[in-house]
Amino acid sequence: MTHILQLDASARPGIAGKDEHGSHSRHLTHHFITRWQFSRPQDTVTYRDIGQHPPSFINHDWIASAFTPEEHLEPWMKNALAESDQLVDELIASDILVIGTPLYNFGMPAPLKAWVDQVVRAGRTVGIDESNPTDPYVPKLTDRPRHAVILTARGGIGFDPGGEMAHMNHLEPNLTTALEFIGITRIHYIAIEGQEVGGELLAKSVAEALRKVEALVANLQGALMETAVAESA
Ligand SMILES: Cc1cc2nc3c(=O)[nH]c(=O)nc-3n(C[C@H](O)[C@H](O)[C@H](O)COP(=O)(O)O)c2cc1C
Repeated sequence: MTHILQLDASARPGIAGKDEHGSHSRHLTHHFITRWQFSRPQDTVTYRDIGQHPPSFINHDWIASAFTPEEHLEPWMKNALAESDQLVDELIASDILVIGTPLYNFGMPAPLKAWVDQVVRAGRTVGIDESNPTDPYVPKLTDRPRHAVILTARGGIGFDPGGEMAHMNHLEPNLTTALEFIGITRIHYIAIEGQEVGGELLAKSVAEALRKVEALVANLQGALMETAVAESA
C-alpha cells in the first residue's frame, strides 16, 4: 500500500474548471489524486489544506525547543513543537508528497513556507553530524524512496527551466533545495502557465498539464508494480 500526503497551498479554495475563481493548482492535485485512486483505491491519502488553514510561523520558543536535545526537552518545549511533530509525522508516514502551489511574487506562498519551516527539523528530518563541521547536515528521510510531486500554477509564462522568466522563479528551486536537504530527492514538476493571460494559451497549458499528470501517475504506478513483482519473485 502506498500512502500519499497531499498539500494544497492556494489561497483560493475552489477548483478551476468547476468553481468560479477556482484554483488551477488545486485542479492539478485533485486530478492527480482522482487518477491515482481510480487504479489504486487501496492507497491512502492524508490531506492538508494549508492554503485555508496555514501552519503556524515558527517563533522564539519553537527555535529554542527544536535545537534542544530530546532528553532535555521541558514540557513547554514539547508543547512548542507539537504542531511541528504532527506535520513531520505526516511527512515521514508518506511515500508520495503531492504539493499544489501557486507562484506568488516569484516564490512560494507564505503557508507553504510555514509548512517547510515546520518540517525541516534538526534531529527529526535532518541529522547534525558534529564530527563534520564543514558539512554537518545528514538527510534523515532516506529510509525509503519517497517521491515529491510539485504541481504549480502561474499567472505569467516562461517560468519553466530554460524559459525567459526562469531566473525569476524561486518557487520550485527553493522547494527542491529544502526537500533534498531532508532526503526527498525524487521530485517531479508540472505547471500550468498563463492564468493571467487566459484564452487559448491558458486552455492549452491546462490540457497539457492534466495530460502530464496522467502520464506521471501511470509512470509512478508502473514503477510500484514492477517493484512489487520483483519483491514477490
Ligand atoms: C499575490 C499574488 C502574487 C502573484 N505573483 C505571481 C508571480 O510572481 N508570477 C506569476 O506568474 N503569477 C503570479 N501570480 C498569479 C498566480 O500565480 C496565478 O493566479 C495562479 O493561477 C494562482 O494559483 P491558483 O490558481 O492555484 O490559485 C500571483 C497571484 C497573486 C494573487
